[in-house]
Amino acid sequence: MSINLLFLFRMSRILTGIQSTGTPHFGNILGAIIPSIEQSKKNKDSYFFIADLHSLTQIKSPSELAQNTYSTAAAWLAFGLDAKRTVFYKQSDVPITAELSWVLSSLFPYNRLKLAHSFKDKSNQLADVNVGLFTYPMLMAADILLYDANIIPVGKDQLQHLEITRDVAIKFNNQYGDTLVIPEPLINHETKYILGTNGEKMSKSKNNIINIFLPEKSLKKQIMSIETDSTPIESPKDSSKCNVFKMFSHIGSETQIKKLKINYENGGYGYGHAKQELFELIIKKFESQRVRYNHLMSNQNEIDIILNEGAKKARKTANEVMKRVRKKLGYS
Ligand code: ADP
Ligand code: TRP
Repeated sequence: MSINLLFLFRMSRILTGIQSTGTPHFGNILGAIIPSIEQSKKNKDSYFFIADLHSLTQIKSPSELAQNTYSTAAAWLAFGLDAKRTVFYKQSDVPITAELSWVLSSLFPYNRLKLAHSFKDKSNQLADVNVGLFTYPMLMAADILLYDANIIPVGKDQLQHLEITRDVAIKFNNQYGDTLVIPEPLINHETKYILGTNGEKMSKSKNNIINIFLPEKSLKKQIMSIETDSTPIESPKDSSKCNVFKMFSHIGSETQIKKLKINYENGGYGYGHAKQELFELIIKKFESQRVRYNHLMSNQNEIDIILNEGAKKARKTANEVMKRVRKKLGYS
């Protein structure tokens, strides 16, 4: 029976990764971490990992890389990732990912990879345009195919990477016989992109983030830096055009949002007041997550233990799949 048919009878396996290029921000949390954890509650066979090898394309400081890996892990754990029920690990703990990546790179047409728009976008923005940025999709394909994953929750920006993953898996299967599971992306269409403090998409690389884990004073400073227009305090304001209101709407209750909208419409209410309300809401809403995050960041050995356990489970699956792959390639 074909691998893909055989795995129809097994529970679908979900897998997703997040780069450790900085502390996960408001956008990463609402757009990726919370939905993936919700998904893992429905689906017991879940793999979540920190794509620290991918981060090497951007982060060159060893201490920064290590620190980002801890803060990324701490953010997932603070938001309720259950490391006992899921496989939670870091990519670099499974070095055969690089082996599979090489195998896939040897199959995938150069001319096709040249068309990847994420590389074009990144190479336009970054000063350090390295080979790793170009072959990034091959490592990502290996991340997925090494675990026979079926469902990959990702943001819209990752769709092309998923297409490449599917294509290279199909190519492998056509060349060597049925071996790799063909994954499907899972896009949460309800998740809107969270805008950053400057009104562009919030991104670790754009210096426009809200880091909800910061100490109160620094968090307040970030929130106060959200750009607004110059409508005077007395005048009524259009909430739909205000980014402070948009951020508030992503996490406030219906009543809280309605109340804030009325304040905007009535006038006599300034953007500074709205920012203060957003600040207070974030502190209140994420109180337990902030406590857990800070606890983990001060006890990084707890994170090490969790990730080591995850790595053992991840390596077990990865080794089995890689054995299958090597046999097909002729070097087992
Ligand atoms: P960043 O652009 O901050 O470096 P990543 O590329 O590491 O973010 O993305 C990690 C995950 O977070 C992806 O699933 C991505 O779709 C999601 N994500 C990133 N930025 C946002 C945002 N502003 N709003 C919602 N989701 C986001
Ligand atoms: N490229 C993804 C991002 O930037 C991170 C990632 C790496 C990933 N490997 C993955 C996501 C495998 C899903 C599956 O967001």
